[in-house]
Amino acid sequence: MSWTHRDSEQLYNVRNWGRGYFRINADGNVECMPDGNAGDEGAVGPAIDLFDIIGALKRRGVELPILLRFDGVLRSRVRELSSAFAKAREEFDYESPYHCIYPIKVNQQRHVVEVILGEGNGKGSVGLEVGSKPELLAALALLSERKSIVICNGYKDREYIETAMLASKLGLEPIIVIEKLTELDLILDAHEALGIRPSIGVRTKLGGRGSGRWRDSSGDRSKFGLSMREIVSVVERLRERDMLDCLQLLHFHLGSQLTQIRALKTALREAVQTFVGLVRMGAAVKYFDVGGGLGIDYDGSRTNFDSSKNYSLQEYANDMVYTLAETCREAEVPEPAILTESGRSLTAHHSVLVTEVLGTANFDPLGLPQELAEDDPDTLRDLGDLVDSVCLKNYQECYHDAIALREQALTLFQLGQLSLDQRARADDLYWRACHKINAIIRDLDYVPDDVSGLERELADTFYLNFSVFQSIPDSWAINQLFPALPIHRNDEKPTRRGTLADITCDSDGKVDRFIDLRDVRRTLELHEPVEGQPYYVGFFLVGAYQEILGDMHNLFGDTNAVHIDVDRNDRPRITHIVSGDRVDEVLSYVEYFEADLLARLRRSIEHAIDEDRITYEESAGLIRRYQSALRSYTYLTRREEEPS
Ligand SMILES: Cc1ncc(COP(=O)(O)O)c(C=O)c1O
Repeated sequence: MSWTHRDSEQLYNVRNWGRGYFRINADGNVECMPDGNAGDEGAVGPAIDLFDIIGALKRRGVELPILLRFDGVLRSRVRELSSAFAKAREEFDYESPYHCIYPIKVNQQRHVVEVILGEGNGKGSVGLEVGSKPELLAALALLSERKSIVICNGYKDREYIETAMLASKLGLEPIIVIEKLTELDLILDAHEALGIRPSIGVRTKLGGRGSGRWRDSSGDRSKFGLSMREIVSVVERLRERDMLDCLQLLHFHLGSQLTQIRALKTALREAVQTFVGLVRMGAAVKYFDVGGGLGIDYDGSRTNFDSSKNYSLQEYANDMVYTLAETCREAEVPEPAILTESGRSLTAHHSVLVTEVLGTANFDPLGLPQELAEDDPDTLRDLGDLVDSVCLKNYQECYHDAIALREQALTLFQLGQLSLDQRARADDLYWRACHKINAIIRDLDYVPDDVSGLERELADTFYLNFSVFQSIPDSWAINQLFPALPIHRNDEKPTRRGTLADITCDSDGKVDRFIDLRDVRRTLELHEPVEGQPYYVGFFLVGAYQEILGDMHNLFGDTNAVHIDVDRNDRPRITHIVSGDRVDEVLSYVEYFEADLLARLRRSIEHAIDEDRITYEESAGLIRRYQSALRSYTYLTRREEEPS
């Protein structure tokens, strides 16, 4: 049977990690369904073809790599989260409200935050969480017209606290969460100085831990939060000043990307009992803030693996609401409003980085002449015989012999007994043998350990125009897996297997771990690039943390970013193009400024002219190229005359 787009969907597991936002259409192109209904057979609603969008952007002169941001996906995520809590509140008769609070550290891009707030649409149901003074200032400006909650986390100085308190006069509801006991003194001093009663929260260090990579964000030794002893002392000090009504919020955060629901349930019981205790001590706590942590199923396996999670959004909401409802009823305390600070879950799906393959390197036999010459040593003869003899019965033995013969060839070369041409032919025969062996083991149910690495050894390298460190830093820093696949040609069977390399001069600038339902794949199925035609690869689910964590290794700067939405007729629209960094911009970050650079270059040119090393025409050409390069994108660009 011939290969179809459905086979590609299965191969790359698109349906499972795509959560209805991505699918492959019959043309073999990846599509984004911003309303999240790609999972439905025969789904209707807007669909945005990524290959078409990239074509449209290139025609407008926007160069790759391009970060595509789908605003509709952000809005849909806010709706999904809110409706999961609405459903849970209805099921468990929970009357107090739910508030979706977006932690802007996850992606502070103004357009992103505006789209998320827009979904709250002045109803005040979407607020912001900030973790630093710059984030606070951004949030206050964005929220100035709204009656929204601003959760003020992170370490604070007096200026931070006073700014937050004064912002309450704008109609906002800033809640200052005490992360360190000394912050209480700053709050009390600011209260005296400004005469404003603050809304205060306490962040608790729960004994119970989260799960997954960020489990140390909770527990006794976590960096943030107050111990139970410290929380009680906050209550006592507020009581002394007749300010217990100011203590309005209890906060905890178990760590990002919670992989299993069990850890959450345990921690939740402890947190709810803390809430009950605070109410019984007379605090006016009306908000229960569960922090972030709602995970993303990056590999689509629905397991407790680091890049996955073993629970649904509805299960998460149900557990929260049920535990709070039951405990509050039993303890006869009023139900608090529920706040979530989900960041990853709101933003991960909305961004896709699309980049282009620049070239490949492979270990295919080069077809060097096989006839043996008179003076060819036995090693070459033996390798030739070995290639001819590989079969199902002897493939393992042949593999061991091939390695030994190749080592022999290397030793002979080092001793000067093998010419360069003979060495090249020995290598070619070795790779020929490996390919034959690999073709045999691909069809086996069981592959012996010693040959199991062959697939990876033979994998092609696909060079891509991007920087791992700038665009998917977590892939390098913490081995985070992101789904990757070609955004077109998916109606064709991919015939190559490869790993991906970026354009930084760093051997870590590569991706050689890929999502898999059972394990981690070491190679990715890709197509043979066609001469003169572009081949685009997309990295998906990169909307959370990656942009702001990215760094400028080798001075590769921010990529071009483009917001895509749909119009009233469900047609894709490019709504914003945010230009990536130019070379002069990244150079200025490290104190190289254009005027000085050009002055120095001109001085060198004058010397070279004096010494007849350069002509006037050449010097003009050099200056022209230098100036135009300063204005250009930091990634590889094609000149007009080059084929695309
Ligand atoms: C206090 C706090 N709230 C919310 C978040 C967002 O977490 P996530 O993106 O996992 O939802 C974080 C991130 O670690 C955090 O530290």
